[in-house]
Amino acid sequence: MRQIEQRAVQTYHDQFLKEPVLVASAPGRVNLIGEHTDYNGGFVLPCAIDKRIAVAIGHGDMNLYSADFQERCPLHEKREGSWADYPSGIVWAMKERGFDIPSFQGAFAGDVPQGSGLSSSAAIEAATAIVLDALFHLEMEKKELALLCQHAENAFVGVNSGIMDQYAALLCQAGTALLIDCRSLEAKPIPLNLARADLTLLVCDTHVSRELGATGYNARREACERAAHTLGVSELRDAHLNDLDKLLGEERKRARHVITENARVLEAVQALQRQDFGAFGRLMYASHWSLRDDYEVSTPELDAFVEIALQSSALGARLTGAGFGGCAIALVKSEDAGVLVLNVRHYFEARGFTRPVFYSFQPEAGAEVAT
Ligand code: GLA
Repeated sequence: MRQIEQRAVQTYHDQFLKEPVLVASAPGRVNLIGEHTDYNGGFVLPCAIDKRIAVAIGHGDMNLYSADFQERCPLHEKREGSWADYPSGIVWAMKERGFDIPSFQGAFAGDVPQGSGLSSSAAIEAATAIVLDALFHLEMEKKELALLCQHAENAFVGVNSGIMDQYAALLCQAGTALLIDCRSLEAKPIPLNLARADLTLLVCDTHVSRELGATGYNARREACERAAHTLGVSELRDAHLNDLDKLLGEERKRARHVITENARVLEAVQALQRQDFGAFGRLMYASHWSLRDDYEVSTPELDAFVEIALQSSALGARLTGAGFGGCAIALVKSEDAGVLVLNVRHYFEARGFTRPVFYSFQPEAGAEVAT
C-alpha cells in the first residue's frame, strides 16, 4: 500500500473509529503536449505523476472527511463550492445512471497540490469513482468511470472541462504517457522511459492562482465552437491550416493553435516511439509559443520559465494544463536539472515573482484499488 493510501486508512480509523472496507487512490497528471485540444475532439498526451489522492471507505452514514482540509462534510445533493462537491458529484452521477448507492462514509488524504493545474479535482473524482465501483460491485470499465467523472465535473461541479484529466487519472499506466484520441476515446500507452535516457521531467509550479482562469477557459472554448461553426465542421479537429483564411481575429488565432497543436501531438508520439527526445522537446517549445501567442493562456511566470529552460539547454519546455498560471514542465538532461532550478529561482526572485516549487517524477499508474 502506498504511503498516501496508508494515511487515508489512518484518517478513516481516527475519524470513524473502525477499519475501512476498501482503499483506493488516483494520481494528478501533467500533460506532455496537446493543450486545449481535448474539447475540440483532438489529441492529448498526458502522464500520471507520483502525487495522488487516496480514499478509504466503508459502510456508514454518508459522511466524508478530508485530512487535507481537516473538515467533515456530509455528502450533498448539489454544488456547495467545497472539496466535497467532487465526491458528491460522483455519487450524484452514479445515481443518475440508475445505480443504487447505499450509505457509506469515506476519508480522503492527498498530496496533489491544489489549484496548480495538476488535476487534483480529477484525482479526487477518479479515486471516489473507482472505490465506489468496487465497494458496490458496479462493474464499470475505467473508460466509463472516466466519462462519469467528466459528467460530474461538467454538470455537478459546473466546470466545462474536456475528457483529458479524468481519462489520465483513471487510465494512465506506470512508465508510459497516454495518447488519447478525444473523439473516438481510444487511449494508447506510449512508453516513456526517461531515466534510461538520463532525462528528467521537471515540473515548475509557479504558484500563480488559477482562480481567474475559469472565465478564460470557457471563453476559449466558446471561441473554438464559433470558429468550427464558421468553418462548417462539427469540431476544430476537422479543420485544416488552409481553412484559416475564412476566419478572423480571435477565432483565427484560437483555431490556428488547435490545428497546429493536434499535428504536434501526433509528431511528438512518433518522436517518442523512435526515442528522439530532441525532436520531442522542440515540439514542446512550439506548443508553448502557440499557447502564448495564439491561445493567449500563458503568464509572465510561465513564459519566463520556458525562456530560461531554453537558455539553460533544456530539450523542451511548455506550460501544462489550462494555463492562466499553474505549472510548466521542462524536459532536461538529469545532470542539468539542478542548474535550471537555480536559474529559475534567481530570475523569479529578481523579478519579485512568487517563489516557485519544483518536482520531478517518473510516470505513475492511474487509479487503483489498493490490495
Ligand atoms: C484543463 C481541462 C482539460 C483540458 C486542459 C487544457 O485541465 O480540465 O480538459 O482542456 O485544461 O488542455
